[in-house]
Amino acid sequence: MNIQWYPGHMTKAKRMMQEDIKLIDVVIELVDSRVPLSSKNPDIDNIAKNKSRIILLNKYDLANMEQTNQWKAWFEEQGFHVALVNSKSGAGVKAVNDVIMLACKEKIERNRRKGIINRPVRAMIVGIPNVGKSTFINSFAGKAAAKTGNRPGVTKGKQWIRLNKNVELLDTPGILWPKFEDQSVGLKLALIGSIKEEILNITELAMELIDFLKKNYPGSLKSRYELEEEGTNLETLNNIAKARGCLLKGNELDIDKAAHLLMDDFKGGKLGKITLEFPKR
Ligand code: G4P
Repeated sequence: MNIQWYPGHMTKAKRMMQEDIKLIDVVIELVDSRVPLSSKNPDIDNIAKNKSRIILLNKYDLANMEQTNQWKAWFEEQGFHVALVNSKSGAGVKAVNDVIMLACKEKIERNRRKGIINRPVRAMIVGIPNVGKSTFINSFAGKAAAKTGNRPGVTKGKQWIRLNKNVELLDTPGILWPKFEDQSVGLKLALIGSIKEEILNITELAMELIDFLKKNYPGSLKSRYELEEEGTNLETLNNIAKARGCLLKGNELDIDKAAHLLMDDFKGGKLGKITLEFPKR
């Protein structure tokens, strides 16, 4: 499957980020716990060099816990501060404040030596589309975010959300562009819903998912759809269509509907907690 991205967006996003990053002490990067590497744009490492770095393994509620812990250790080995968060429920979100303090310890200490006390550190959230940046900001900033929005005359220039006496957050998240010269990265991003479905072949995508699940999470499809047998990948999709009554006029199987159903079940975590890639050491 050939998935395209548009370089125009990339150039603009990169320019904006290079400007914003000058104002920032710590870059908080959200990745999707199901695809921690494929949902990370490596260009940010260059743009944010010399800054403190935090990786938030977001949506950990949808990923395999054992794999997520392995990814945490992997990122820590690369020098990142790491935390697991579920921005939707709020689990792990409060603890990010302590992680920010730890990541900025040296900066705070340097300021203190210069006699600068209680200057808040400035943080920015970055991540590819749909990774959960807005959800995280709303959860993390809570009432503070709402307050900023309600004040008149705050739309000019950069917006900051004062979270507490220690942290200020840049209101607009930095949108990173997905990087998928490697088609398998594009495929994984499509599976988690970071690429618009209109440009994808859903049946092909569903077959790829079936293939991955059979190899890495055997039994997950059988138990979700109560299948007697799976057969080939296409037969599995047909069997899912049968099991869920996806039919066209004349009782022909509606494969497209079954593919959408499977994709939605996966995205919603209904096939279980599934990680799509594993750390290489
Ligand atoms: P973005 O700003 O990075 O583009 O992402 P955004 O916050 O809009 O979140 C994208 C989707 O991911 C939203 O779902 C959001 O609810 C969901 N999400 C964010 N964080 C988590 C998490 O930790 N766990 C889970 N399970 N989901 C998360 P949506 O379907 O677009 O909206 P909604 O139906 O949930 O409101």
